[in-house]
Amino acid sequence: MKIKKICCIGAGYVGGPTMSVIASQCPEIQVTVVDLSKERIDLWNHSDLDKLPVYEPGLKELVAKTRGKNLFFSTEIDTAIDEAEMIFISVNTPTKTYGKGKGQAADLKNIELCARNIAKVAKTNKIVVEKSTLPVRTAQAIKSILDNTGNGVDFEILSNPEFLAEGTAVDDLLNADRVLIGGAETPKGQAAKDALSSIYENWLPKDRILQTNVWSSELSKLVANAFLAQRVSSINSISALCEKTDANVAEVSRAIGYDSRIGSKFLNSSVGFGGSCFQKDILNLVYIAQSYGLQEVADYWEQVIIMNDYQKRRFAENIVTTLYNTVSGKKIVFYGWAFKKDTNDTRESAAIYVADALLDEKAEIVVYDPKVPEAQVYADLDYLGTRSPEENRRLLKVVNDPMEASKKAHAIAILTEWDEFKAYDWKSIYENMLKPAFIFDGRRLLEKEIMEAIGFDYYKIGQS
Ligand SMILES: NC(=O)c1ccc[n+]([C@@H]2O[C@H](COP(=O)([O-])OP(=O)(O)OC[C@H]3O[C@@H](n4cnc5c(N)ncnc54)[C@H](O)[C@@H]3O)[C@@H](O)[C@H]2O)c1
Repeated sequence: MKIKKICCIGAGYVGGPTMSVIASQCPEIQVTVVDLSKERIDLWNHSDLDKLPVYEPGLKELVAKTRGKNLFFSTEIDTAIDEAEMIFISVNTPTKTYGKGKGQAADLKNIELCARNIAKVAKTNKIVVEKSTLPVRTAQAIKSILDNTGNGVDFEILSNPEFLAEGTAVDDLLNADRVLIGGAETPKGQAAKDALSSIYENWLPKDRILQTNVWSSELSKLVANAFLAQRVSSINSISALCEKTDANVAEVSRAIGYDSRIGSKFLNSSVGFGGSCFQKDILNLVYIAQSYGLQEVADYWEQVIIMNDYQKRRFAENIVTTLYNTVSGKKIVFYGWAFKKDTNDTRESAAIYVADALLDEKAEIVVYDPKVPEAQVYADLDYLGTRSPEENRRLLKVVNDPMEASKKAHAIAILTEWDEFKAYDWKSIYENMLKPAFIFDGRRLLEKEIMEAIGFDYYKIGQS
């Protein structure tokens, strides 16, 4: 089966970049990305490509090339579903904040809404692709909704989890290590898997496209994120030990990473991982293990989150202790708010939790981030509900000038590894600050010797 029209439900950090890449690599396929949010769709259609709702290196160039030709962004969800032979579901699946599984299970409300919408609209056979990250066996629920409320048309469900990392999404999509396609082990399931595979084969070698049964595919995505996050928590646990023993976490990482059985990736110690996926997916894995009575499995993976929370808390506590046990009324500048460099995404960013802890101590925080707007910073803090929105705005300011921010600051905390921070005139920053001038480098971005030579009291995570 040759796919000519694709619909993608969900125009977020996955739907937008993924579909832009498919459209750019498959000019013969018409791709329509739909979303309930008119505001988001309007931004995807904005004439100024710097206003796209997702910032990713290389993304605006792809959108410029394809938008209005074979890539469309729309709120006409029903029309796009009706016309497409293949429908990707790429909506958000956050951790539940209510009811059974609160704080752990994935909230599948959006997924169910999509399934019901497809069932209502579809008049011809459809291949429905789970692009969102979902608990294992979700395809069964989707199939049941589609088969019981549909118009008698045939639905094949595929799992095709997305492995892109924000900040390098376009490159990750164009040069994917692998694409995973799970589907039913039946002739129709095989045909659907091959139809999706042939789309990716437009730019990826066939041997990188793995086909599995649908449950392995769903579970593999959760497991991949759990393994990646586990590496970060493992090295972060060692960073605390390094600080006590005069070992240097960078040297330890290098020493173990040279072992080809271990490998060097994901061994950078930091203030803790963030992003919309790692925590949510591990909590979901924990919940699933518990629901099958596998308590030891659940406890094992939960420790990855516990260690990550410890790392964020430890960083904030170290700031307070070092600043003579009080930060009340002290100006602490945050360089970076995004959860990592080269993205404007702030979900679960370590900066939010470090700020929250310091605001509890009545610090005065000034935030500079090259891509995150003021409204987002306040939305992140308000969402925690720790204090009133008014108090958040009184204690924390967001600025556009990093040099200006440093004036009369007691300390600077580096929370995101933006490249531009490395190039700053740190001598001038030092002169701007109150003395002693402290830097707390949560990303191991700067050179200790250089910073100390300038005069800073410099703390680098994982180094005494
Ligand atoms: N962000 C990542 O790096 C990443 C990577 C791999 C996988 N994932 C997974 O991909 C999925 C999407 O993540 P995201 O970061 O793109 O989320 P997102 O919040 O950026 O985007 C989701 C979009 O879906 C829309 N939406 C929700 N319900 C809808 C409905 N019923 N109809 C139409 N639109 C609807 C929302 O308005 C939103 O714009 C999640 O399951 C996530 O776990 C994310």
